[in-house]
Amino acid sequence: MNSKYFSVKQAYSLTVGTEVTLRGWVRSRRDSKGVTFIELNDGSRFKSMQLVVDAGVVLDETLKQVTTGSSIAASGVLAESPAKGQAVELKVSAISVYGTADPVTYPLQKKGHTLEFLREIGHLRVRSNTFGAAFRVRNALTHAIHTFFQERDFIYVQTPIITTSDCEGAGQMFNVTSLSMANPPRTADGNVNWQQDFFGRPAYLTVSGQLEGEIFALAFSKVYTFGPTFRAENSNTPRHLAEFWMIEPEMAFYELEDNMALAEEFLKFIIRYVLDHCREDLEFFNERIEKTVLNTLEHVAESKFGHITYTDAIQELKKSGKTWEFPVEWGSDLQTEHERFLSEELFKKPVIVTDYPKDIKAFYMRVNDDNKTVRAMDVLVPRVGEIIGGSQREDRHDVLLQRLRDSRLDEKAYWWYFDLRRYGSVPHSGFGLGLERMMMYLTGLKNIRDVIPFPRTPGNADF
Ligand code: 4AD
Ligand code: MG
Repeated sequence: MNSKYFSVKQAYSLTVGTEVTLRGWVRSRRDSKGVTFIELNDGSRFKSMQLVVDAGVVLDETLKQVTTGSSIAASGVLAESPAKGQAVELKVSAISVYGTADPVTYPLQKKGHTLEFLREIGHLRVRSNTFGAAFRVRNALTHAIHTFFQERDFIYVQTPIITTSDCEGAGQMFNVTSLSMANPPRTADGNVNWQQDFFGRPAYLTVSGQLEGEIFALAFSKVYTFGPTFRAENSNTPRHLAEFWMIEPEMAFYELEDNMALAEEFLKFIIRYVLDHCREDLEFFNERIEKTVLNTLEHVAESKFGHITYTDAIQELKKSGKTWEFPVEWGSDLQTEHERFLSEELFKKPVIVTDYPKDIKAFYMRVNDDNKTVRAMDVLVPRVGEIIGGSQREDRHDVLLQRLRDSRLDEKAYWWYFDLRRYGSVPHSGFGLGLERMMMYLTGLKNIRDVIPFPRTPGNADF
């Protein structure tokens, strides 16, 4: 690599007078008398570099090819910029064109496009301001997550993507098979013969790495997973994806209170990190997407989360005097409208709801002494609703067995999970943070399809 090459980000930190070559994609081009101004962006930061090309410096036939979307290398000297809003610009001495972009057909012209339109051009939207900012934030966020856990001696464990157990027990799994769909092998009674499938039984894409995370927690004490998870729930909403990324810490010797404290510390850490490392991108979101983003994030990083039990939350929802689309009754799950009321209006900050009815929560959550509720915790935040789901785990063999039977799950499939309660069982807890929900919270983007590089939703797996 020749040392004259710099990223736009690097170039902004060099002193005036330095000779550099920058490479990237042309965002816009403007000709005025005797000069051409080119905005060059290479994704290294939000801001582009202004290239100033005096007449006669670059051959006309080359300059003609420098249109929005084309890729070029530009050499020159960094100069103080008279224009406002930028310290330096590049006084160009030479340009070479890598690839042209036909101005008539290139879909990303300078005019503002809707997020819906940009979603249809997923292969090009990453070259826009909004998606550039979003995926730089996403990058910083993933780094912050690893940093948080690594600094606290958590072991990172890669749990499997293909699995034969349903962690959430909700039956929302994608089948993984190598059988012929047109002509699968059949048993004598006409059912599909899964014994002849690749794994000798039905297999699925995982909905969560938690159960395997528990195996590791009961050996390494503090662990976390961070990977893709899959849910075949047919919910076409702005906050559900069929493929999303989840961070799942799992801690031996943690009870629910420890779990909640960790979740709060974790969220504040990653918010602080992104505030400190992605200022320019967040300022864009604050200005153009959601004008409360910066304030909210600064406020959250400083304040204490609210706490309320599910039972009290139901009381508050009933007392609120609001009319709800979904009825509020003890025993039914909280819907997004309820979650948003609790965090946006009642607490006006993130709030942790605990002790949900056992019948609406997964089998692995620890049953309370009332035998009606479980040690569950959901973290709800303004604008987004549920961002974290977690619990203390049922560590008592007999209680777990009863819960599994009540949930009508095949206890044989969970034999190893029971072994963890048979050999050296300890109280333990964990939670899952949806990476994309966190992204929505950080950026103010309102559709989850806009915070993941390539969204997968019902009917859509383009790109
Ligand atoms: O509440 P969930 O289903 O919890 C679990 O999967 C547990 N096994 C986690 C644990 O205790 N280790 O999902 C956790 C989080 C949700 O709070 C939400 O942020 C996100 O994952 N999530 C989704 N994000 C996008 N699209 C979906 N379809 C999601 N389903 C859950
Ligand atoms: Mg949940």
